[in-house]
Amino acid sequence: MIAEIGTDIPKSIDILRNGGLVAIPTETVYGLAANGLNEIAVASIFAAKNRPFFDPLILHIGKPNMLNQLVSNVPQNAKKLMDAFWPGPLTFVLPKTKNVPDIVTAGQDSVAVRMPNHQTTLNLLNKIDFPLAAPSANPFGYVSPTSAAHVFDQLGAKIDYILDGGNCTVGLESTIISFMDESNPCILRLGGITKIEIENIIGPVNERIHQNSNPTAPGQLDQHYSPFCKLKELKNADAENLQNSTIVFYSPESNIHQQLINQKEILNFQALYFTENNTETQAASNLFSILRDLDAKGLSEVYFEWAPNEGLGLAINDRLKRAMTKRD
Ligand code: TXA
Ligand code: MG
Repeated sequence: MIAEIGTDIPKSIDILRNGGLVAIPTETVYGLAANGLNEIAVASIFAAKNRPFFDPLILHIGKPNMLNQLVSNVPQNAKKLMDAFWPGPLTFVLPKTKNVPDIVTAGQDSVAVRMPNHQTTLNLLNKIDFPLAAPSANPFGYVSPTSAAHVFDQLGAKIDYILDGGNCTVGLESTIISFMDESNPCILRLGGITKIEIENIIGPVNERIHQNSNPTAPGQLDQHYSPFCKLKELKNADAENLQNSTIVFYSPESNIHQQLINQKEILNFQALYFTENNTETQAASNLFSILRDLDAKGLSEVYFEWAPNEGLGLAINDRLKRAMTKRD
């Protein structure tokens, strides 16, 4: 099988109705979608990704009224956040109904749900009467895909169809917030919506991001989102190490770039940038394609500069931290 890339929504629906896999565009990253109520179809997602079954999936919906079939309670603060950010990069962990198969939730009594903000996928979702289970469309542990070509490169031989919706605009996965303790909402993964944006709507929330031994949120595994290229921190590098190296700077305006650029002739390094115009949204949307390009260029190691530790920079640095952790 070699996946076709196209923009055919009826064809995508046909494949999904028959239990097949379709890669779908979202504003965050491309998802590898199957009918979320069909256990066998969902099992084939895990097989294609080589993903362990203990890692639960997000269900994607296009209409708010589908939520009632999937979750048994939507606390008022969750509702407020949905009103503010849906469709968009915010995923809710809520108590599940018995309609949701155990394979989706890894046997837990909670389910993760979101409404993605991408017109093509919303059009598709609004024409079907089941939710789409969809993890990021990459082999488990590797960098998430932000274009149809990224999906094709790695999973093209394992799926039926790639619905092309262009490059992902946000470029980082959704933020995940759990309301399993209704009065104590808790962020489980940093992503496209910042903690401050959430707190502006519902007040203070907790964060439980670094429990990397917690198998119920493996997006939090120490090593994840990793290119084969080794990522080294620029701030710990000696000048002599930088000789003939490749450096991914945060932006041309960063202090360290300003310092090093004067020595570019002597050190002879190759400079790349997460953002050319020094904006966190651009850095986020470029992040994964830059990490992939390092592998495409066959680089074995590069130096990189952290994003500023605020706003989306926190989510960018979270991905970089996991990406730099060496594979076993
Ligand atoms: O932006 C996104 O969220 C993308 C697009 C495709 O929507 N999807 C995505 O899926 O990032 P995935 O499978 O790569 O990451 C889903 C994360 C995992 O870390 C998983 O552990 C967590 O969601 N998750 C899913 N269900 C959960 C649950 N019931 N409780 C806690 N964490 C859950
Ligand atoms: Mg993923």
